[in-house]
Amino acid sequence: MSSTQPIPVIAIDGPSASGKGTIAQHVAAALGFHYLDSGALYRAVALAALQAGANLENDLELSRIILTLSINFTGDRVAVGGHDVTEAIRDESVSNAASLVATYPKVRKALLARQRGLRQAPGLVAEGRDMGSVVFADAVLKIFLTASAEERAERRYKQLMGKGMNASMTTLLQDIRERDARDSARPVAPLQKCADAVLLDTTGVPVQAVVTQVLALYQKARQAP
Ligand code: C5P
Repeated sequence: MSSTQPIPVIAIDGPSASGKGTIAQHVAAALGFHYLDSGALYRAVALAALQAGANLENDLELSRIILTLSINFTGDRVAVGGHDVTEAIRDESVSNAASLVATYPKVRKALLARQRGLRQAPGLVAEGRDMGSVVFADAVLKIFLTASAEERAERRYKQLMGKGMNASMTTLLQDIRERDARDSARPVAPLQKCADAVLLDTTGVPVQAVVTQVLALYQKARQAP
């Protein structure tokens, strides 16, 4: 790669439990790229705010918390202030708080530089809601991954049960619908497919088939003039 070419980014956006994380991690591993789970950043902020007893409606207080927050990714582990929070940030209470704190422009802005800072050679696979639309608008490939709400609730259910955590399908489906509505309706960086993103519906499609498709799309995109 010549030094004038930007470090390639594959942006994978989509709603909660659409399989973004799994697909993005497989694609990153196949290409030897770095991986960014941007949702984990919002979750880490939400957890820190909940633990600090902060007012989740106060965007200024939240953005101050972010300024002093150290968030580190090591492999698939996430640490906040040196404490491993990998499991804690997946709790449903944190999921809901994350979706709320993510509605504030100040919070989003405070996390922008951290996300862009993870764009490192040889490349990055970044997943979230606004990777292709805002954070990495120049991504070489943009994917919008989706699946039916029922299938997504079922995936999350299996994921939580597999980790020995409690879950109810009815509550999960309701939470997913509420989060979808909130993520899509917010005025700043709403969840939406950008015009130049490829839509992939993964309902009933095995993980490996989706990964193969994304890798083929990437090879095609990088050859495009
Ligand atoms: O992807 P995940 O479900 O872990 O994200 C948690 C929450 O963080 C989402 O509900 C969404 O509101 C927010 N988020 C966001 N922008 C991103 C990633 C996540 O607003 N790029």
